[in-house]
Amino acid sequence: AAAKAIASVESAYGASIEVLRGIVNSMMQEMRKGLAKENGAAMKMIISHVSNLPTGKEKGRFLALDLGGSNFRVLLLTLDGHGQCKSESDKYVLTQELMTGTGESLFDFIAESVQGFLESRGITETLPLGFTFSFPVQQESINSGKLIRWTKGFHASGVEGQDVGRLLNEAFARKGIKVNVAAIVNDTVGTQIARCLDDQNCYVGLILGTGSNTCYLEDVTAIPKWTGPAPKTGKVIINMEWGAFDDEIQRLPYTPHDRTMDAASINRGQQLFEKMISGMYLGEISRLVAVELAESGQLFQGTLTSKFREVQAFKTAMMSEIESDDTVDLSLTRDLLHREFGLPLNKITIDDRMIIKRICELVSTRAARIAAAGIVAVATKIAKTHDCTVAVDGTLFQRYPNFEHRLTAAVAELLPGISTKIHFKRSEDGSGKGAALVAALAQTQ
Ligand code: BG6
Ligand code: GLC
Repeated sequence: AAAKAIASVESAYGASIEVLRGIVNSMMQEMRKGLAKENGAAMKMIISHVSNLPTGKEKGRFLALDLGGSNFRVLLLTLDGHGQCKSESDKYVLTQELMTGTGESLFDFIAESVQGFLESRGITETLPLGFTFSFPVQQESINSGKLIRWTKGFHASGVEGQDVGRLLNEAFARKGIKVNVAAIVNDTVGTQIARCLDDQNCYVGLILGTGSNTCYLEDVTAIPKWTGPAPKTGKVIINMEWGAFDDEIQRLPYTPHDRTMDAASINRGQQLFEKMISGMYLGEISRLVAVELAESGQLFQGTLTSKFREVQAFKTAMMSEIESDDTVDLSLTRDLLHREFGLPLNKITIDDRMIIKRICELVSTRAARIAAAGIVAVATKIAKTHDCTVAVDGTLFQRYPNFEHRLTAAVAELLPGISTKIHFKRSEDGSGKGAALVAALAQTQ
């Protein structure tokens, strides 16, 4: 019975090689359109203003802020001039009210956190700060740029269309704190830069976390929308904002569950690629698949608890737990379903557990395969003949069982023969070390 119930889900979530090839081609076309002119494509292909890569000689003390991932953090980084970096940081809870209230209260909270951080460490000097702001920012310079739109559940009013560097400076001024906002950095860029320090071939930065996005090093000659003099290096990092790829749904293997999930989201109709591949959404897609099977009597004998019907009640972290369950009778899965959703223990059959685990596998494998198609598009576009490191960060990549394996397997399927040249390497603390390095580079640029 389990096999029958899951068959239709398997075909809807298969992400065949043909579908992936379609995504690769279409993403390459969209990359070119986005590079050709402003608003040339849904993917913004933002010029990051980061043209120099670190050499290891960067030196000094820096502050960094990390906003937009699972945690809000303030960090203090010390670069020693020999490629080493010491860091300390504090995490803060960002409530739903702060994420969706007024921009002023969000920025005030950030400034207060920095104030507390500095006071607790007795820091009185004015330090340069790298602001890792993991949202689409139309960069006007390395330390200024307008928020194009919020993503990932943020919705603070009065920030879209505004210069986030200015908003941050104004909040610091309101609190009387002296900080020099030296750089605004996307998390992908921080991730790539942090890894570049000990990897000459690191051309790409990838985030697979709450949200998903990629950046890469591009030749300025391949950017028709570039204005002004070219940087000395002739290159610049492009923040793709690939979450917005195919918002018109022409290529993506979209399902009714994707549609229902999107309809209930705060940014309906936006970031559809991101919604198929990142941690904030995979749990909800899986939940909707399970609800459908239960409603047609193929799961939990057709009964569901009200908790299981709650939007976003099923978290991607639970999928991780279920996929790690290697007990013979999937008893850990049964316990989780009971504990989190109040499903009666004796009602969760072995078939139910197998179906739930398979749903998680299918939804996360589809995510890994689609993300792989994106990376293949980028790698093909930059056409490196030698090895290419993709620096990766984010909870989905770091913590989800088998995600990395599924990602590399799909790259190998798409690029038989040359996939061995693409290396996914963890880059930890891009928003700390990476932001400090970008702030340091900004001062010499
Ligand atoms: C973290 C970085 O490691 O990864 C953040 O410090 C980034 O800047 C994050 O946004 C992405 O992961 P997640 O899973 O926290 O969204
Ligand atoms: C969202 C943001 C993007 C960020 C990504 C990963 O897609 O728009 O800027 O890089 O999430 O955090």
